[in-house]
Amino acid sequence: MSKKVEVLWLCQEDVIAAGGLDMATIVDDVEEVFRLYAARDYALPKKVSLEWGDDPPPGEQRNHVNLMPGYIGGRFNVAGLKAIASFPRNPFRHNLPRASALIVLHDVEVGLPLVVMDGTLISAMRTGAVSGVGAKYLAREDVTEVGLIGAGVQSRTQLMALRVTRPSVQQATVFDIRRDRSEAFAAEMSERLGLDIHVAASAEEVARGAEILVTATTNIAEPIVRHGWLAPGSFYAHVSGYECEYDVIRHASKVLVDDWDLVKARMYSTVAYMWRDGEFADDDLYAEFGEVVGGQKPGRENDQEVIIFSPIGLALHDVAVASCIYQTAVTKEMGQKVPLWDSPLWM
Ligand SMILES: NC(=O)c1ccc[n+]([C@@H]2O[C@H](COP(=O)([O-])OP(=O)(O)OC[C@H]3O[C@@H](n4cnc5c(N)ncnc54)[C@H](O)[C@@H]3O)[C@@H](O)[C@H]2O)c1
Repeated sequence: MSKKVEVLWLCQEDVIAAGGLDMATIVDDVEEVFRLYAARDYALPKKVSLEWGDDPPPGEQRNHVNLMPGYIGGRFNVAGLKAIASFPRNPFRHNLPRASALIVLHDVEVGLPLVVMDGTLISAMRTGAVSGVGAKYLAREDVTEVGLIGAGVQSRTQLMALRVTRPSVQQATVFDIRRDRSEAFAAEMSERLGLDIHVAASAEEVARGAEILVTATTNIAEPIVRHGWLAPGSFYAHVSGYECEYDVIRHASKVLVDDWDLVKARMYSTVAYMWRDGEFADDDLYAEFGEVVGGQKPGRENDQEVIIFSPIGLALHDVAVASCIYQTAVTKEMGQKVPLWDSPLWM
């Protein structure tokens, strides 16, 4: 009997053709993962961050490759791994994206690798979807405007997802320290989403009074968002590193993360730095967001609360979204099958 095993290869274009840009579906998948997280139907080891070489110049992020494994149950029932490189200077020095990723999924019965696929798009889409689902539970219902600080890849998917869960959004304002990035963002995303997008002259102009604020930057130098800028009733998705003053978090009505142990282990975001510095205790965390989606804790309770959601990113979302795309690709006979072996050499 032949023991030939093949693995499917899906490139970015295959991922797109199999639903990789379908934000409404990805938002549903991401929400379902939070529900399964609340039901503890998952396995999630800590991320491994691989770093090497000389330190970057002061105030600049270090290049790294994160290895992120996860198993998620329920209708996904899938195990896999994302390997994602982050080279923050790529867009400016090499005309390449900051992040590039592969996702590998494994059969849960016999362990064989099923698919190797582009994870760059999936990673960006799920990150946007996490904030989109965040807004569904934590933002006011009547929001019309989104403020974005950082005009990179993540801000694109953040806006796509916020449009899905808050369709009342009609306008966005964007600021990036590189004005050309803001202008390119506004031109592309206003056409893609049919929104009115204004390029701001400062982070303060974006943040002051924003109904929904997103920070998705590569900043690790000085905090960007200052105390006193957030309006009553706002929802702030703090997606990346050192993006607000400690006082912003200290004065929020509710602070949520996706997984508190992972946030503390990765030590990469404002709320993690505060915990390290003894400025934010475990008890200060309102909830892990799955508790809200799972109905164990309320989300927004009135129109005055200032709510901050600071996810570190879960492999569970990557493998869940990847598995749905993989299933579609199999059904539609997409991608390329490549041999793992004709017959295993040893057993
Ligand atoms: N929490 C998560 O799950 C998650 C997932 C993916 C990415 N991220 C993080 O999101 C961040 C952004 O990723 P990306 O793919 O959009 O990167 P990107 O390089 O495409 O865009 C980042 C943008 O931030 C801008 N920027 C840097 N400092 C700034 C400042 N002080 N003010 C305004 N703009 C500033 C840069 O000019 C750049 O345009 C990264 O740090 C990444 O690690 C988080």
